[in-house]
Amino acid sequence: MAENFLPALDAAALPPGKGETIEIAGQRLAVFNVGGEFYALHDACPHRGGPLGSGWVEGEKCTVACPLHGWEFDIKTGACINVPGRPVRSYPVRLVEGKLWVSVQQSAASGQ
Ligand code: FES
Repeated sequence: MAENFLPALDAAALPPGKGETIEIAGQRLAVFNVGGEFYALHDACPHRGGPLGSGWVEGEKCTVACPLHGWEFDIKTGACINVPGRPVRSYPVRLVEGKLWVSVQQSAASGQ
């Protein structure tokens, strides 16, 4: 396990079609289970900071809608569907022995 991946939560605690807000390394992240695949985004919506981990997950589109005003984001990339140019950061995740690990130092989109 690369040292920049930190344990986030037990995968069994996040059923398919759900999201949750977690705090890891002093940052609030939104983690999602879409059909058994796990993803992590910055939790604060770029509009007015709505908690994306409490948003509505649309599994078929792999999107989450912000619970405050409904901006939609691609869960895989963090791209904003309604307002291009206002993405949220996405983070690499790994599933190891039933536990979800997140790298808060890298961006999943840039791979840096
Ligand atoms: S705070 Fe997310 S859409 Fe307004």
